Amino acid sequence: DNYCVIMGGGIGSRFWPFSRKTLPKQFLDFFGTGRSLLQQTFDRFNKVIPTENIFIVTNAMYTDLVKEQLPELDAKQILLEPARRNTAPCIAWASYHIRALNPNANIVVAPSDHLILKENEFLEAIAKGLEFVSHSDKLLTLGIKPNRPETGYGYIQIAEQEEDKNFYKVKTFTEKPELELAKVFVESGEFYWNSGLFMWNVNSIIKANEILLPELASKLAAGKDLYGTPGEKAFIEENFPACPNVSIDFGVMEKADNVYVSLGDFGWSDLGTWGSLYDLSPKDESQNVTLKCESLIYNSNNNIIVLPKGKLAVIEGLEGFLVAESNNVLLICKKDEEHAIRKYVNDSQMKL
Ligand code: GDD
Ligand code: MG
Repeated sequence: DNYCVIMGGGIGSRFWPFSRKTLPKQFLDFFGTGRSLLQQTFDRFNKVIPTENIFIVTNAMYTDLVKEQLPELDAKQILLEPARRNTAPCIAWASYHIRALNPNANIVVAPSDHLILKENEFLEAIAKGLEFVSHSDKLLTLGIKPNRPETGYGYIQIAEQEEDKNFYKVKTFTEKPELELAKVFVESGEFYWNSGLFMWNVNSIIKANEILLPELASKLAAGKDLYGTPGEKAFIEENFPACPNVSIDFGVMEKADNVYVSLGDFGWSDLGTWGSLYDLSPKDESQNVTLKCESLIYNSNNNIIVLPKGKLAVIEGLEGFLVAESNNVLLICKKDEEHAIRKYVNDSQMKL
């Protein structure tokens, strides 16, 4: 059977001040569709995966948010992490949990901060991918053709020979390269972005963890008789915080030698940063983006203005800036220096 694990425990700090520790971006509705990014992710997968096979893994502090946004889920489909340990422990726990329910489950693991514009193509790729991994120990990711040297993504180099229609063996996987290297990758034409969406049989990812992340695997394997029982909660509360803090990309995908990629055009985009929101949004004739609020803009180009609904922004002589206000914070900074936002978040904690 097919299962889906949605990872929704990140804090989305590069989207500050919209994304806040208490209300991260996956719980927000950026474009006013009425559904948050998490809800949209659930809706998308629920078209091909039965509701009872969809699990959300998130931080315990978001319990109420998840229950409120996804009332269709039973409490036992929400796995609550007692500590933030990044995506490898999140996936490892979900894998042990699901294996206890179904020892031969095929799983698609998905982030909760993506937009998919071509849903039919996407769901078709998911169905084919789950079939591809169901009879082997292959680890599969969806690859996206890159259009800029983005340093926030993983880069995948593929073998020349197709393994199967649209499936390629991965030669190298480089998570979040430096800008110079990212430029070389994009110019070479041989590399794809890692979409952050993975598919595998539950036994394949558990085996990969045992080989590549033995410390993590042994910590969580110790509870193997407790998963799916009332003892699981106490076991996780005690042992999860002791797991190493590592992402699935650095911990497994960069090192494994049985990684495959499925290529396709799904209208994928990661709402990772203000820059990606700018790229995706409709622009005026001077390439300015205004979201939520009203604006009057003079002699200004390439800005993104996001103020609360009902406000009017009057802007003159501004080039390439982000102007964003949310929840008592106003941020004005150069749009192409948004990597500094992490520093602003830290520094502002003293004032907020
Ligand atoms: N449950 C849980 N626990 N979820 C987490 C945690 C955690 O500790 N940390 C992050 N997540 C969730 C986030 O909410 C997001 O939905 C997903 O896991 C991915 O985490 P990000 O922090 O957004 O990763 P990234 O964007 O820097 O990088 C990943 O995605 C890129 C594409 O968007 C990597 O997989 C890259 O290789 C990839 O290119
Ligand atoms: Mg992300």
